[in-house]
Amino acid sequence: MQVLPLLVAMLHFSPGHMWQPKSQQNLQYPDISGGPDSNTALLRRRPALSAYTIEDRELTLSPSWPDPSLKFGQFSAVTVDKHGHVVVFHRGPHVWDGNSFDTNDNYMKKEEGPIQEDTIVVLDPVTGKKIKSWGKNLFYLPHGLTIDDEDNLWVTDVALHQIFKFPPLAMLNDTVTKPLLVRGERFVNGKDEDHFCKPSAVAVLKNGDFFVSDGYCNTRIIKYDKRGARLMIWGRSSFYDSISQRPGPYQFNVPHALTIAEDRSLLCAADRENGRVQCFSSDNGTFAYEIYDPEVIGSRLFSVAYTPTKGGLFYIVNGPPFGAGNVPVQGIIVDASSLNIVSTFQPGSSALSNPHDVAVSPDGESVYVVELDPYRVWKFVHKGRKYL
Ligand SMILES: *[C@@H]1O[C@H](CO)[C@@H](O)[C@H](O)[C@H]1NC(C)=O
Ligand SMILES: *[C@@H]1O[C@H](CO)[C@@H](O)[C@H](O)[C@H]1NC(C)=O
Repeated sequence: MQVLPLLVAMLHFSPGHMWQPKSQQNLQYPDISGGPDSNTALLRRRPALSAYTIEDRELTLSPSWPDPSLKFGQFSAVTVDKHGHVVVFHRGPHVWDGNSFDTNDNYMKKEEGPIQEDTIVVLDPVTGKKIKSWGKNLFYLPHGLTIDDEDNLWVTDVALHQIFKFPPLAMLNDTVTKPLLVRGERFVNGKDEDHFCKPSAVAVLKNGDFFVSDGYCNTRIIKYDKRGARLMIWGRSSFYDSISQRPGPYQFNVPHALTIAEDRSLLCAADRENGRVQCFSSDNGTFAYEIYDPEVIGSRLFSVAYTPTKGGLFYIVNGPPFGAGNVPVQGIIVDASSLNIVSTFQPGSSALSNPHDVAVSPDGESVYVVELDPYRVWKFVHKGRKYL
């Protein structure tokens, strides 16, 4: 049952006519037989079961977290910095709806101005109380959030079509609003070197090199060096191919979130509308494998977060299917070595509704999920953990 779609996909790979490098002669491309033009790399599927203790498999909802007096809007992202602080990115009173963009992906509510409340909120991982907040009058439609090894804060805004690097949260206050680095042109979308189109996420390597998933209307991943010069680009739309067959490697239908498995030299992307995670070499962009399991994950996969703890695990959140489908909306834990599904999790007995992002604490014991609607941030802890 599982093997058939793979075989079909392998037999029907067509040459990558959709993928067109533009005037980027100096950029390196992931090459070889598995490169973006060829579609010949194998789609690796999950092999044998592996053993996990109940503590590793099971997550429990932390019931009184966060502080219930805190008010948020649509949550787009959650991350945990290396100190264990939980940081969320939310949209305040702004919502992304059918009137947010015109058919050319231009943001339609510019004149309403930016979100006037703090969009970035730092939460104490134990008490759930607000430690700090920041980021008012800067953003229109928050999307991605990550914090790098030097504590710099990286965000994407799909209305602005930009990505930003800000100084560490400890240095930010209402008077410090100048980014250290910006890519993309304010409110102008495109697919060339200087433009994104609704960029969804950033992921940063320890050496400062970073990746951007771009995004809702482009279908590519771009690697930059730490100064922000482009090194590599890959990806093309799976839209035409995926109607009758499984999309091949390097094909995306909304690259929606990124995570780095630095100990495995992998960059992994949530390929949202293809319901899978694709992992690539973080060195050269070569496709490594996909995580795909329609029976447990369903047809949509919103975010993925990697932790090197417990032997290496991916935490995934799926989403409500378009049309029919009976796979629960839930969190899914995947062994990064065997690609076996270790377990699934939900808040209590009810399913999640619209999870949008997931993050793991540095010690691997706490997992956070934010939902777009209802506006919820959930904390889960591994069983056997002392503090709920
Ligand atoms: C804001 O932060 C900057 C840099 O961290 C600092 O120099 C400045 O004094 C702070 N301003 C206020 C009002 O706290
Ligand atoms: C790409 O990098 C990976 C390590 O991340 C390495 O194993 C592989 O051989 C490289 N491929 C090419 C074509 O350089």
